[in-house]
Amino acid sequence: MAIRTFLLAEFLMELKDWRAVNIYWPAQMFKTAAPLVLLLCCLYNLRYLNGHNHMLTQFVYYLGRPSDGYIPTEPLNHPAAWTSTSLREDPETFFTLLPEHIDEMRLAVSRVRNMSVPYTSLTKDDFPLPLLSPYITQWIKNLNSGTGVRVIRGVPVKEWNQDEISMFFWSLGLHMGIPGAQNRAGDLLGTIQDTGADHRSPKVRGYLTNSKLGFHCDLADIVGLLCVKTAKQGGTSHMVSTVTIFNEIMKRRPELAPLLFQEHYVDVKGSLLVNWLPVIPVQHYKNKLLTFWHTDLLRTSRTDYGPKSAPTLTQAEQDLYDLIDELTADPAYRFSMDFRPGDIQFLSNHVVMHDREAFVDHDDPNEKRKLYRLWLTLDEPEDVYEYVQRWIGVGRVIGMFSGRILNEYLGI
Ligand SMILES: [Fe+2]
Repeated sequence: MAIRTFLLAEFLMELKDWRAVNIYWPAQMFKTAAPLVLLLCCLYNLRYLNGHNHMLTQFVYYLGRPSDGYIPTEPLNHPAAWTSTSLREDPETFFTLLPEHIDEMRLAVSRVRNMSVPYTSLTKDDFPLPLLSPYITQWIKNLNSGTGVRVIRGVPVKEWNQDEISMFFWSLGLHMGIPGAQNRAGDLLGTIQDTGADHRSPKVRGYLTNSKLGFHCDLADIVGLLCVKTAKQGGTSHMVSTVTIFNEIMKRRPELAPLLFQEHYVDVKGSLLVNWLPVIPVQHYKNKLLTFWHTDLLRTSRTDYGPKSAPTLTQAEQDLYDLIDELTADPAYRFSMDFRPGDIQFLSNHVVMHDREAFVDHDDPNEKRKLYRLWLTLDEPEDVYEYVQRWIGVGRVIGMFSGRILNEYLGI
């Protein structure tokens, strides 16, 4: 109850702050508070609907990171502040499955296959991994508080059909966290494959094309990719530490760093009632930076909607965006890897950005590049204080979003 009261108070404060206050505020509040509180309760209670997260609740929970309000004035020393060399030399970055791990995976896959139920009905207990469990615990720890990158190699995907691969990856995800929907259709296990769609079309998401993608974070605590087939040419995966990028900004243009702790605007392409929503890209909590960045969508929100676009980039913001693009393209910071069939990449979207090069695919439809994707929420707060801070953050995000939507539709 106390947490919900905190949440409501924070939500109301943020709603008031987001350009929604004027002399008619009390009357407007009276008109709008009831449905918004209802929405808040729905989001809170929908969180674990059927053991999966709704896309919106996952998105809001991801952005509702805990924050202590501190804006660092110098570079941070943290395991997540890696360079491409240090990550490659880290013995924990790549983990090759041992024969006994592969044997228990085979056993678990045959077990769930014999259950003859959809993979989304499976639970963690249906897919026992006793030998791998201690390693999985370490992966989660690293994703939470280490480099934020884990690559697992050697999954026997060539032995399994597509249903068996789906059952495997879904069930492994259940051992890691809470899976969530990746689009409005509610897809819980995304398929990354070129459908022939044109990336330039505003409604087409990049993972359904063969185009190069800009650096970005996905909208969940963790993204997991399992490679089933590789392209004929290209498709190299890149990642960069957002903490290292922040540290470099502090060294080169320290006056720009505080801008990251202010509101920016992410293009949601009309999927959440409006074309764009306010976000705060970087927050500090306990000597950690928790970041969100999307090279493309933070720019198109400012330009693509004519007079209804988000406020135009200031010169300082333009400099900041250009500097981030320059840093993420630098091989000193950008870690690159080519997927092999059977590789899994787990990344923390709080400390890592990723992108992908364009690729040329095989002519044979059965040989086309294919990856499965999971979006996972990690529900592992360090203590009650962090738990409360996260939910205050959720209230803040809902307040910001609601304020923006009210501003668009009611003009208050
Ligand atoms: Fe992504």
